[in-house]
Amino acid sequence: MNSFKQNLKYISLVCLAVVFTQCKTKSEKATANSEQSEIQENTEALHISTSEFGKLPSGEKITKYQLTNKHGMEVAIINYGGVITNLKVPDKNGAIEDVVLGFDSLEDYLIPPPYFGAIIGRYGNRIAGGKFAIDGEEYTLAQNDGKNHLHGGNKGFDKVVWEVKPIQEKDYLALQLSYTSKDMEEGYPGNLKTIVTYTLDNTNTLKVAYEATTDKKTVVNLTQHSYFNLSGDFSKTILDHQIMINADAFLPVDSSLIPTGEFKDVAGTPFDFRSSKVIGKEINTENEQLERGLGYDHCWVLNNQNNGQQLAATAYDPESGRIMEVFTDEPGIQFYTGNFLDGTLPAKGGGTYAKRTGFCLETQHYPDSPNQKEFPSVELKPGETYKTETSFKFSTK
Ligand code: GLA
Repeated sequence: MNSFKQNLKYISLVCLAVVFTQCKTKSEKATANSEQSEIQENTEALHISTSEFGKLPSGEKITKYQLTNKHGMEVAIINYGGVITNLKVPDKNGAIEDVVLGFDSLEDYLIPPPYFGAIIGRYGNRIAGGKFAIDGEEYTLAQNDGKNHLHGGNKGFDKVVWEVKPIQEKDYLALQLSYTSKDMEEGYPGNLKTIVTYTLDNTNTLKVAYEATTDKKTVVNLTQHSYFNLSGDFSKTILDHQIMINADAFLPVDSSLIPTGEFKDVAGTPFDFRSSKVIGKEINTENEQLERGLGYDHCWVLNNQNNGQQLAATAYDPESGRIMEVFTDEPGIQFYTGNFLDGTLPAKGGGTYAKRTGFCLETQHYPDSPNQKEFPSVELKPGETYKTETSFKFSTK
């Protein structure tokens, strides 16, 4: 009798398990179907959707603009810092995944950040001692990176609210972001009217176009600070990615990461990325420059300067098959391997960002140009328009 009861109990348990598994498969199928229909919808046409991303401590609402092209490639941008919060691109099997580091919530962007995805201004990169002079007049900026000035100061363009105008055309989508930086804001002279336009087209290219005008002589060097991890898996480092940088020379730095003024030939150094090379291959070799940067954190002197849009760099993740090509008209590119990430910042979707889980390719003029007269000039005069463009083109192989 006892064993009959036990058998009955066993049989009921098995039945329950079968019913549960079937329900689960059904719900999984339903999710897959809804994901599928989202993809089908996305392939129908280019579209922009908006949602609230959060509120600033002042109560101001921050909006997230999501641009989707006909292949389902998606870029999400918020009006705080012009930050690219998500960039979803297909891998070699068509799986669309996020390839930029960022946060799920606005609050995390408000804490002194590693500049994830932001527009950097007025000056991308470092200015020695936070000082420069124009026509003999000296200007003092915030020393927010040791004794140097970094990425526009305490409240750079990465921490301001931009005015946004969404644009929808037949073949592309765009977001036009405007911000006027007041005369002497963060110590820089001149009222600087800035427009940054993000454009997504159906060739899976994200273009960033910058424009600025001033009413007083000033210096400008704008850039985009996205951290990429083409694997789509933020728990992995980027050390297996292959990088090509179209540059015969780079700018060695002193111990505070200010260029020494030398243009150093990359030949025979770990800085030679003229042919595609795995990032991790030489990153830990004994080299004074790598020690100073804690890895790669240097500006490369791009070939074919003053010749319009040129291929500056290519990144490739063999596992996902994703390729990113960077085109620009800028003379330099800062290749930074996420050396300061230390596993304390929360990753999107869970986990944290460990050291070297993202890399940046920041197109720009050279660091400390306002103090290094042999570098291409970053001065902007009234009546002139600062204009520069960088494109990130995604494909697979
Ligand atoms: C730039 C700098 C790095 C670091 C990051 C932000 O890429 O070159 O040294 O400051 O920004 O953490």
